[in-house]
Amino acid sequence: MRLVSLTLVLGLAAAGCGAKGETALDAERYDYPIGSTDVARGEEVFRANCNGCHPGGEKGYGPTIAGHPEPVGEVRAVVRNGKGRMPGFDENKISPEDLEALLAYVDSIGGIRH
Ligand code: HEC
Repeated sequence: MRLVSLTLVLGLAAAGCGAKGETALDAERYDYPIGSTDVARGEEVFRANCNGCHPGGEKGYGPTIAGHPEPVGEVRAVVRNGKGRMPGFDENKISPEDLEALLAYVDSIGGIRH
């Protein structure tokens, strides 16, 4: 039991580190072409995970995404690691396939710089 909670604490600490400061570094690591064209699936992923703070891609708790293009590596890194008050989404929350579909949707609303 003690070992389990220690592992949990270490895991959370590691996740915490990833959520801060690594975004800029990861933007390069995450800079590769969008691996999906499934905009409809991406819109579902967006509605389930992002819409609360970026309603319809517009400004809410978070800033406007639609028509505000960011490099794809930056968007991938922000979704995985979080940024400022935005939480990160790991592979348990958004699978790699769903992340690519999500990016296809974000691209369709003008959120990806080309
Ligand atoms: C709890 C609210 C919240 C949720 C949920 C959320 N965001 Fe954000 N988002 C924010 C905030 C706040 C910022 C501004 C972060 C900053 O610059 O400090 C932001 C910033 C962004 C940015 C701009 C990043 C940049 O480079 O400046 C993008 C793109 C983005 N979010 C996409 C998403 C996507 C896609 C999802 C769903 C997977 C999502 N957000 C979910 C609150 C949220």
